[in-house]
Amino acid sequence: MWGVAQDPFVEERIALSAFLPEPFVITVGPLKSTPHNASEYELVCLAALVKALRAEQVFEIGTYDGRSSRAMAMSLPASGRLLTLNLPPGEDRNAAGIQNVDSLLNTKVGSGFRFVGTPEAERIKQLFGDSATFDFTPFEGQMDLVFIDGSHEFDYVRKDTESALRLLKPSGGWIVWHDAPLYGVAPYLKQQMRGGQWPVRLIEGTTLAVMPVAEGRPAPWPNLPLLQL
Ligand SMILES: C[S@@+](CC[C@H](N)C(=O)[O-])C[C@H]1O[C@@H](n2cnc3c(N)ncnc32)[C@H](O)[C@@H]1O
Repeated sequence: MWGVAQDPFVEERIALSAFLPEPFVITVGPLKSTPHNASEYELVCLAALVKALRAEQVFEIGTYDGRSSRAMAMSLPASGRLLTLNLPPGEDRNAAGIQNVDSLLNTKVGSGFRFVGTPEAERIKQLFGDSATFDFTPFEGQMDLVFIDGSHEFDYVRKDTESALRLLKPSGGWIVWHDAPLYGVAPYLKQQMRGGQWPVRLIEGTTLAVMPVAEGRPAPWPNLPLLQL
C-alpha cells in the first residue's frame, strides 16, 4: 500500500481513448510480442498515438527487433519517416565500455529484422550508435514524437530525455517513455514530476508514459482528442 501511495503515476493516468476520436481505425503489426518487446496492448497504443497525434516524423531510441518501429511506421502518412537508433551491430557494451542488460540485448537479435523487407521499411531509417554519444544535431527540431526505449539506466534515461526535448519541433511534440514505472525510468520521471512539475501521464494498462513538449520544454496538456475526422 505504501508503495502505491507513493507512486505519482497513480494520480497521473490517462486512458488511450482520451487521445482518440470515434470512430478510430488503425492497422497494427506485428502483434506477437516476444521477451523485451513492448506488450501487445502497448504496441496498439504506440501505433494509435502516432496516428492520433498526426505524427509525421518519429524518432525511436532502442530498436531491438524492429517490432515497435514497424508498428509506428504503419501509422505514418506515406511521406512520414521513422528514425530508429540502436547500438552498432555486435556491440555488447555501451560507449562507456559497460555491459548491462540493455547492451546485451544487442547481441540477441539483428537490429530491426522484423521490419526489414516489409512495406514499412521504406519509411524507416536505421541509425547506429550509443544514445549517450550519438550526434542528434542533424535531426533536432524536426520530430513530432520521440519514443525512448534504449538503455533503462537513470543516467541514460536522463540523457535520452534531454536529447528528445531537442529533437522535437519547437511548435510541439510528444515524448513517450517505455517501462516508465520500472528500472531507472521511474526514479528519473518521479524526480522530474515532483521537482520540475513535469506533466507526465501513464497510459492506463501500460508502462508507457507520455508528455507534451513545446519550445524544447514540457508543455501544458492540450484539449484531447486532437484528431478530428
Ligand atoms: C528493450 S529493447 C527495445 C525494444 C523495442 N522498442 C520493442 O518494443 O520491441 C532496447 C534496445 O535498446 C538498445 N540499446 C541498449 N543500450 C543502448 C544505448 N546506449 N544506445 C542505443 N541503443 C541501446 C538495445 O540493444 C535494444 O535493442
